[in-house]
Amino acid sequence: MPTIQELSTPHLLGIKYLSEDDIQLILETTDNFKEVLNRPIKKVPSLRDLTIANLFFENSTRTKLSFELAEKRLSADVINFAASSSSVSKGETLIDTVNNILAMKVDMVVMRHPAPGAAHFLAKNINANIINAGDGTHEHPTQALLDAYSIREKMGDLIGKKVVIVGDILHSRVALSNIFCLQKLGATVKVCGPPTLIPKYVTTLGVTVEHDIRKALAWCDVANLLRIQLERQTVKYFPSLREYALFYGVNKKMLDELDKKIVIMHPGPINRGVEVTSEVADSEHSIILSQVENGVAVRMAVLYLLATKRGK
Ligand code: CP
Repeated sequence: MPTIQELSTPHLLGIKYLSEDDIQLILETTDNFKEVLNRPIKKVPSLRDLTIANLFFENSTRTKLSFELAEKRLSADVINFAASSSSVSKGETLIDTVNNILAMKVDMVVMRHPAPGAAHFLAKNINANIINAGDGTHEHPTQALLDAYSIREKMGDLIGKKVVIVGDILHSRVALSNIFCLQKLGATVKVCGPPTLIPKYVTTLGVTVEHDIRKALAWCDVANLLRIQLERQTVKYFPSLREYALFYGVNKKMLDELDKKIVIMHPGPINRGVEVTSEVADSEHSIILSQVENGVAVRMAVLYLLATKRGK
């Protein structure tokens, strides 16, 4: 149970900056909004006086739609901005773009941006609550919160649970946010992947490293399989996707060989047949679609809690 009634911060820039109590408060508040989403009328008036801008400078399906739905379920007014069809292509700076949007009386900004630190930069320079919806290879805090919520929902608690994060750790904001979040909630975290995709500093974050996927699966209660981020890989980190799939792709035979049933997660989008076979992704082991479902309630909780910090 959280011992606090409000978040310690007016922004959600990364899990690194949240306390365990902050995270517990978000998860408990998510329980309430999940109940709302299961009602015939899935809408509450909590944010009806607020206008929220969703600024996506990078592609997204789940995060963008999930934030937009969360905002609408909370009765906020919503405006959406896609960099590809905006005046950014005419040379406008990030601060000018956002200040022009804020001049239209926007209260909160949700932003995805390819540059690590972009959300911090905005929070320092813009007078609005900022929510980081993924900044380059840095953090993706709402993904980690929905992942933690989904494990808690499936397994009851995170204390003492063993979670392995598999794949492209080097380029993954999901990995970093998950490492911070899971550890703050009492889980033990291991990372697994080819040596070229595991950054050397990772052990300084308190995680262990395993390069053998079968050993990693035998150790864990939960395996979170990350997408290979080819769009961020400027050099080759492994010979081919086929080779990656052969060594690190999770298939049904691997799960059948275990003497226990583990939970399979993936933040999406999935490269079917690369990180995981369709047979596993669509199996009873998988909670991938529960993660997506929980994302709306988690984002409602984050928006609601940050809205109570407005002007403080
Ligand atoms: N998990 C995730 O961030 O997916 P999108 O890139 O589709 O938002």
